Amino acid sequence: MQINTFEEYQETYQKSINQPEEFWAGIASNFLWKKKWDNVLSWDFASPSIKWFEGAKLNITENCLDRHLAEKGDTPAIVWEPNDPEKESITLTYRVLHEQVCRFANVLKKNGVQKGDRVCIYMPMVPELAVAVLACARIGAVHSVVFGGFSAKSIADRINDAACKVVVTADGAFRGNKQIQLKEVIDDALIGCPTIEKVIVLTHTRTPVSMLKGRDCWWEDEIKLVDSNCPAEEMNAEDMLFILYTSGSTGKPKGVVHTCGGYMVYAGYTFSNVFNYQPGEVYFCTADIGWITGHSYIVYGPLSQGATTLMFEGIPTYPNASRFWDIVEKHQVNILYTAPTAIRSLMGFGTAPVQGKDLSSLRVLGSVGEPINEEAWHWFDEEIGKKNCPIVDTWWQTETGGIMISPIAFVTPTKPSFATLPLPGIQPILVDEQGKEIEGNGVNGNLCIKFPWPGMLRTTYGDHERCRLTYFSTYQNLYFTGDGCLRDEDGYYRITGRVDDVINVSGHRIGTAEVENAINMHAGVIESAVVGYPHDVKGQGIFAFVIYPGLSKDEDLTRKDILQTVTRIIGAIAKPDKILFVSGLPKTRSGKIMRRILRKVAEGDTSNLGDISTLLDPAVVQEIIDKSKQL
Ligand code: WT7
Repeated sequence: MQINTFEEYQETYQKSINQPEEFWAGIASNFLWKKKWDNVLSWDFASPSIKWFEGAKLNITENCLDRHLAEKGDTPAIVWEPNDPEKESITLTYRVLHEQVCRFANVLKKNGVQKGDRVCIYMPMVPELAVAVLACARIGAVHSVVFGGFSAKSIADRINDAACKVVVTADGAFRGNKQIQLKEVIDDALIGCPTIEKVIVLTHTRTPVSMLKGRDCWWEDEIKLVDSNCPAEEMNAEDMLFILYTSGSTGKPKGVVHTCGGYMVYAGYTFSNVFNYQPGEVYFCTADIGWITGHSYIVYGPLSQGATTLMFEGIPTYPNASRFWDIVEKHQVNILYTAPTAIRSLMGFGTAPVQGKDLSSLRVLGSVGEPINEEAWHWFDEEIGKKNCPIVDTWWQTETGGIMISPIAFVTPTKPSFATLPLPGIQPILVDEQGKEIEGNGVNGNLCIKFPWPGMLRTTYGDHERCRLTYFSTYQNLYFTGDGCLRDEDGYYRITGRVDDVINVSGHRIGTAEVENAINMHAGVIESAVVGYPHDVKGQGIFAFVIYPGLSKDEDLTRKDILQTVTRIIGAIAKPDKILFVSGLPKTRSGKIMRRILRKVAEGDTSNLGDISTLLDPAVVQEIIDKSKQL
């Protein structure tokens, strides 16, 4: 499955375009199927209706666990590094992980979970999180993992949208020197979640928790009551594997749906190729399993390939800025996959935290989540890779299931800040606002994909029309990514950022409408508008313009109150970095907010605001500019 030379890449790419079905059938034959497919692909982007490997039967956990037992039973599957470096790390071999997954799968069954039921998982980055995810897949339950940084209300919305039956959580989580009371947040969420029947709670921080009779039970007690034999449920290739919520340009997060067969093939194939994973190597992805990166490249991709995947509970700066490098040294990490925001934040500490650390085990470096600026790219290359490790800048999305445009390590010549070339099977196209293809090189446009790939989303949970409208209706017969993109003279792709109303804060997607709705719920706020602006560490920061008529002298107190409201409604990750109180917003005669102007103000570039003659009240712009200078 692995591509080894650039010529081989070019040939493979051509074949994947000319004969996509043959190509993907060939890749899929490297996986374990209970029954082979009748048809490789049927598709139609208008509906949309996308089906890969129809008629095939499989269970992804047999690919991630059972099939490795004979030869790799004693090989580490998961190495866990705790938040506290003084605590012991834990290694789960493939045999042990298999047993734990089977056991917990039986716990889920015992608590009423059946094939097709939805299970919400809200857990810290501990091995049991991976176990819970795989246990769902084992019995054909659909997991919906919610990142630990979301508020009770956000969790409740997600649970209700998917009508989840069970929640798996923990008493609490450690993050740096902080503790997060996960069970308490779940208790708050569940006040408004009538579909939840059972809550399974893992002991982790040993913080006191309230346990509701008949509803709540302890993970540790439950696993003692079941046996360790759990046959894998036979799934159709197009059965749902998981739902993962992500933000878009409208208010409500969407439940992106991935299915068993295509997702498995795509996550496994891209993992093996992009990182050039070799047997026995230790692979460390610093993401959280609450995001798609963790799903595809901590759990499913690596385990499907029999890799050793390192899970880290903590944060890059705890107990100090050497932590990543200590982990690399301690576990002899060979492949490190992280985010530009982490690199930029560590860069800020200079080279001292890297000095004296043995990073010689490193062979491949990866970046994901947002555009990587040249300065961060070079720092990563020089200080961490010692100019000896290829950097794979991987562009993809929750919706794409796996990496789409990226160098293949040791194969594709890299170029700082470029995601470079499409992987085999991926057909990118740049279009103008009218949807006309922009051909040739040295051009900019909106990035679309014109042919299906196995890992793509199939629908948005409970609302197929929304999936169609969001991704398949902007341009006919194309999947629209929402990203702007440059194709340079060499045909290399550089992602320039979102062209819709989505902000990318530290690699996390946040919808401006979502933040506005949250701010508007604060008493006293009449209206608000939120835009992104360049931020040295986070990539983008959140800038909020807020109309709040009865403002007292202590503006800062009101600011803090608003932040508290946003934290309650969405979670701390959506807190605006800057709040500017204004008496009006720049609107067109038809009532549309001119975000272009607000973005300029937020960037601090008010010299050329362009044409503002269509504004209802041009005077409001001057007020905003003047006030922004005092912020
Ligand atoms: C958006 C998707 C996919 C994993 C994590 C984020 C941006 C992602 C890159 C990259 C430039 C990137 C895009 C994309 N993005 N990777 N290598 N270079 N931009 O997943 O939350 O679904 O966000 O992240 O804007 O659309 P996500």
